[in-house]
Amino acid sequence: MTTTTAPPAALRPWPQVCRACGALHDPAPIAVCEQCLGPLDPVFDAARVLPTRDAIAARPWSLWRYREWLPFDGDPVLSLDTGGTPLVEAPRLAARLGVARAWVKNDAVSHPSLSFKDRVVATAINAAAAFGLDTIGCASTGNLANAVAAQAARAGLKSWIFIPEDLEVAKIVGTAVYGARLVRVRGHYDDVNRLCAQVADLFGWGIVNVNLRGYYGEGSKTLAFEIAEQLGWRLPTAVVAPMAGGSLVTKLRKGFKEFSAAGLVSGGAPRIFGAQAAGCAPIVRLVRENADAITPVVPQTIARSIAIGNPADGLFAKRAILESGGWAAAVSDAELVGAIRLLAEEAGIFTETAGGVTVAAALALAAEGRFSPDDEVVLCITGNGLKTIDAVSPVLRQAPLIAPRVAEVRALVKGERS
Ligand SMILES: Cc1ncc(COP(=O)(O)O)c(C=O)c1O
Ligand SMILES: [Zn+2]
Repeated sequence: MTTTTAPPAALRPWPQVCRACGALHDPAPIAVCEQCLGPLDPVFDAARVLPTRDAIAARPWSLWRYREWLPFDGDPVLSLDTGGTPLVEAPRLAARLGVARAWVKNDAVSHPSLSFKDRVVATAINAAAAFGLDTIGCASTGNLANAVAAQAARAGLKSWIFIPEDLEVAKIVGTAVYGARLVRVRGHYDDVNRLCAQVADLFGWGIVNVNLRGYYGEGSKTLAFEIAEQLGWRLPTAVVAPMAGGSLVTKLRKGFKEFSAAGLVSGGAPRIFGAQAAGCAPIVRLVRENADAITPVVPQTIARSIAIGNPADGLFAKRAILESGGWAAAVSDAELVGAIRLLAEEAGIFTETAGGVTVAAALALAAEGRFSPDDEVVLCITGNGLKTIDAVSPVLRQAPLIAPRVAEVRALVKGERS
C-alpha cells in the first residue's frame, strides 16, 4: 500500500482595502493606501467556508484555530503555537466592580514573549514569510520588541528593532537576548515610529507595525475569539482593554462582530471600554470630549508600554468604543500601581503597568456607574509584571532577613499576630 502526503499549500496573504477610500491593493508589504494614505485592512473572500464550533474546538489550542478569520489562504508556517491563554474567573474582582461576574483574559502568560503582542507578530511574521522577506522589525514601546525578536529568532529571520531611549531594563534585555539588532532612538515612541516609517521600504524590511500593519492588526482579533469560545460560545457584556496606538480595542470590536456574524456566539456585542494612563491619554480625551481629531501629547507616565502620544488608530478606537456603547477612563500612576497589587492579591496574576492601567480604569469606570450589577466583564491583561518590576518594588513590604533559627521565625509569626 502506498501513501501520499499532500504538499502544504503555499501561504497567500489576502489583498488589502483602504479603510478611508476603499481602494483595493494587491497583497504586498505596504504601509498605507497609495491613493489617499489611509490605513489598510485585509479583505476576506466572502465565499470562504467557515468552520462550525465543533470543527474549531477539535483544532489545536492556538490562535490558528480561527484561521478562517486571519488574513491568509493556505497553511501558516511560523509561530504556530501562539495564543490559547487562560481566561480566569475572578469573583473577588467582580465584587469590587459591583458586577455579576468578572474574568481576566491572561495574556501575561502569552507564548513566547509574555504579552498579547505575540498575537500580532504571529500573523505579521507569516505575511513576511509569504512575501519572501528575510528581515522583520518594529517600532516598539517594549512588548512588541520582545515579540518580534523572539519570533524572528525562532524562524531564522533577522530583526531590526527600534525603541525609545527610556525603556525598562527587562524590555531591553528581553529583546537583545534573541540576537536582535536593537536600536535605542533619542526621543519618544512617536519619533521612533516616524523613523521606522521612513526606513521600512528603504531596506526591504517587513516592519510589522508599518508596512505589514494590515496583516499585524488582525492577530489581535484572536483575543476576542478566545474569550467567546472560553465563555462557552457566548459574549461578555463588557470588555476593558488598554490602549496605546488604539489598534487592540478596534480589533476586539471587529472580532466580536465577526463571530456574531458567523452565528458562532450568543449575546449582543460587548461594550468596549478603553484604558490609558492620565500622563498619556489622547484617546480617552477623544472619547470623553467626542472630539474629531487627536491632540498629540508628550507622554509622562510609568506605563511606558502604552505611552503613545499620537496614536495611529486613535480615531478608529474612539469610534469602536462609542459605537459599542462603551466608554474610556484615564488613571494616575499611583492608581495603576495600586491596581497591579490588587490584581495580584485578588486574582493571583502579576501584570505589568499596562495591566495596572486596565484594572484601575475598570475600578474608575465602576465608580462612575458605567457597569450594572448584571454585567459580565472581561479585563484584558495584556502583559507580564516581571517586565516592569520597578513600578511596584518600592511599595511592597520588605522581606525580613533572619538567621536560620526557629526562634527568629517564632518572633516574626508573633509580630504578625499582634
Ligand atoms: C501590554 C500592552 N497592552 C496594550 C497595548 C496597546 O496596544 P495598541 O497599540 O493596539 O492600542 C500595548 C502596546 O504596545 C502593550 O504593550
Ligand atoms: Zn485610500
